[in-house]
Amino acid sequence: MKIDDNIETFNSLIKRRGFIWGPSPEIYGGLAGFYSYGPAGMALKNNILALYRRELRYFGFGEVECPTIMPEIVWRASGHLDRFIDPVIRCKKCSTLYRADKFLQEQCPDLMIDGLSFQKMENLIHDHNLSCPKCETPFNKIEEYNLMLKTQVGNNVTAYLRPETATTTYLLFNRLNQDARRQYPIKIYQIGKAYRNEISPRQGVLRMRAFDQFELQLFIGKQQEMVFEDFEEIKENTLPLLDWKLQAENKDKPEIISLEKAIKTKLLKKPAYAYCLYISYYLTKILGFPEEVIRFRQHSINERAHYADDAWDLEIKTRQFGWVEICGVHDRTNYDLKRHGEFSKQNFEVSMGSDSEIKEIPQILEIAFGIDRIIYTLLETIFNVEEGRINLKLIPILAPNTVAVFPLVKNKENIRNLAVKVHRALLENRINSFFDSAGSIGKRYRRQDELGTKWCITIDYESLDDNTVTIRERDSMDQIRVNISDLAEIIKKKQESKYLHFC
Ligand code: GLY
Repeated sequence: MKIDDNIETFNSLIKRRGFIWGPSPEIYGGLAGFYSYGPAGMALKNNILALYRRELRYFGFGEVECPTIMPEIVWRASGHLDRFIDPVIRCKKCSTLYRADKFLQEQCPDLMIDGLSFQKMENLIHDHNLSCPKCETPFNKIEEYNLMLKTQVGNNVTAYLRPETATTTYLLFNRLNQDARRQYPIKIYQIGKAYRNEISPRQGVLRMRAFDQFELQLFIGKQQEMVFEDFEEIKENTLPLLDWKLQAENKDKPEIISLEKAIKTKLLKKPAYAYCLYISYYLTKILGFPEEVIRFRQHSINERAHYADDAWDLEIKTRQFGWVEICGVHDRTNYDLKRHGEFSKQNFEVSMGSDSEIKEIPQILEIAFGIDRIIYTLLETIFNVEEGRINLKLIPILAPNTVAVFPLVKNKENIRNLAVKVHRALLENRINSFFDSAGSIGKRYRRQDELGTKWCITIDYESLDDNTVTIRERDSMDQIRVNISDLAEIIKKKQESKYLHFC
């Protein structure tokens, strides 16, 4: 059985096993675009973030955390108040509002809608005679709809919930510059909530109104963008790149090309930007996504955000929703610091190049991941049904439980006691062990397969005689027998050897 026959099974598994619940609050009927994570989902999210924090240390990034609410002037300066908009169409009769580009893509699945101007979308609506699905009345002209969520701070300060973490990081530039002792690029990231008042969020956790972002920034000089030391180390790696020219020819297969060649052929303009694409690819691959479900898709000029000079989305091929963006890599030039300099009346010019006489406002390169999208697409990608058995093929370092420990039978006190002892010893070794004695042994194995637990340890009658236990491996279901005294070391080694640097 393939997953395509099993999408409902997958959707119910996500809820049944405590990954993601919603829309929240479920007991009041739910509000579209808001979801909650259950214990398994939070464990997975925390494991991903722990891995990222570890790897980013290796790549030389520091972490910051900023408030999620900022006063109006910030968003006036960033351009979000004027330009962070979606095109919407309103029914002339029932006033139902639809997001124009999404509506058109649903009605005309063979056309490439992303990146079309408002006028072109309006022409398509007219040419295809499209009307309101509810009452079949034509639409008004396309309107602009701002995605920011407004609030009031104290008695009278107008503020907005941040629609991205990135802007709040930029506001720290003076502090970061001092902290980094003027050594460039400054590599920094922030993980946290962002909010967007999506017009009619569908596609579950892919379009949430409150979501987790993980955004990395490089503050870098113009010269350094072109001659970038870190690029030399990674330039031979190949990436699947689908540029907008290929898309304009209706192609959807990326070209697998080395970053060195992408720079030589001017497919990519800047080595430092190519390095950012590489980092985003690396952070995706280490989670266990296979190569064939990953591509980078370049934005056309119309599709780019207001701050971007070049933009490529890292997309994952899903069975349920087609290609899904999990990360956007943006060349934001010096747009942000220039604007914040003007509005705050601060001078953000620093000398960054070899010539200390020349001062410049730093360029910003950005890697923007949506954590919830990573989680959804990862779960969907590694979900398998093998001869009726659900198997979630998470890499061990990410699984909510590293191991599960079972007494073979629950009502034999000495077997249960030994199982509890084994479980506690694993926890003392800081191995994430889960103890389960409820239900048949077969059902307990299935439950752990559905959570992605790589190893299940069973204590049986033989264990009482010779202090050995079985370890059952999730994918092959093969079992080996080992001494209890060696167990923690064996699991630690197995866990490490399964976590490989892929390049
Ligand atoms: N900071 C870019 C984004 O939110 O997509």
